[in-house]
Amino acid sequence: MRDINTAKANIETAGFLDIDIDPGIDLFAEIEKLKKEKNAIVLAHYYQEPDIQDVADFIGDSLGLAQQAEKTSADIIVFAGVHFMAETAKILNPHKKVLLPDLKAGCSLSDSAPPELFKLFRDKYPDHIVISYINCSAGMKALSDIICTSSNAEKIIESLPREQKIIFAPDKNLGAYLNKKTGRDMVLWNGACMVHEIFSLEKIIKLKVRHPNAKVIAHPECEDAVLRVADYVGSTTGLLKYSIDSNANEFIVVTETGILHQMQKSSPDKTFIPAPPNNSCACNDCPHMKLNTLEKLYLCMEYETPEITMDEKLIVAAKRPIQRMLEISKQYGL
Ligand code: 13P
Ligand code: SF4
Repeated sequence: MRDINTAKANIETAGFLDIDIDPGIDLFAEIEKLKKEKNAIVLAHYYQEPDIQDVADFIGDSLGLAQQAEKTSADIIVFAGVHFMAETAKILNPHKKVLLPDLKAGCSLSDSAPPELFKLFRDKYPDHIVISYINCSAGMKALSDIICTSSNAEKIIESLPREQKIIFAPDKNLGAYLNKKTGRDMVLWNGACMVHEIFSLEKIIKLKVRHPNAKVIAHPECEDAVLRVADYVGSTTGLLKYSIDSNANEFIVVTETGILHQMQKSSPDKTFIPAPPNNSCACNDCPHMKLNTLEKLYLCMEYETPEITMDEKLIVAAKRPIQRMLEISKQYGL
């Protein structure tokens, strides 16, 4: 076993605590024990590996996770998701310890909007307000007026007067989808998610021919051509609910494959087919989300590291648009 201080010092390069774990240990039982001992809560996104979802106290989409983080009474929030999600939890709980099993679990969409460049872009549109998708850095949030997620974006846009000019960032696909849905003409930042952009329309259509009764359900981070063939478009929670409520027995699921775990658990008799990407893989995993593992989750709880730390001024600036989102969501019962 490595010396704990050396292992902790290595987090900056490795991103996680690199310590050998006794292979005989029951990680599920140990994690449960640590939750109680430390008054810790484990929040997990649907794209996490099944073992992590099974040990989590709450599994949700970005809005659900932010709402849980806002209301938790736990002393430690262990965020099984990506960096911007854990950062949002920290912004909402500046005095709590927020842990992320692998600090390198980033997001290509968030990376597609560096705050310094976005500020130059925003300054060209002084009469526009900025709505930013939650998949962005705290620096971007601080430059925004309201944050949104895929489950509340439409309502947030509709809460603004029709004549209000809007910049939508960073996801151009979600922005274009929302422009279509709301009839607005938001100015879009040119960002995208590497996972949702890679789906192959051709392969989805071939799958649909082989499974004519299957419903195509897609996340709005996908490109317009893919969304056009979808029977339902929604956030991860929306997709899961649709699969539960629908009379259909087969679904072609056009988002990250982690969500299939809850779909299959909720509807064991239904068939869920992951939509294939534009390469030789059969399914589509987010390489960032999948950096977290059950072992890393256990280690980060045991040693309370790696931890999200943030500049106080940035916390204050990024909190305002997140709170606005949470307030509007509450008004709409979301
Ligand atoms: P939601 O879970 O909010 O739909 O977001 C999907 C996603 O890409 C998270 O990174
Ligand atoms: Fe980011 Fe896309 Fe991964 Fe979600 S699926 S964390 S948007 S890279």
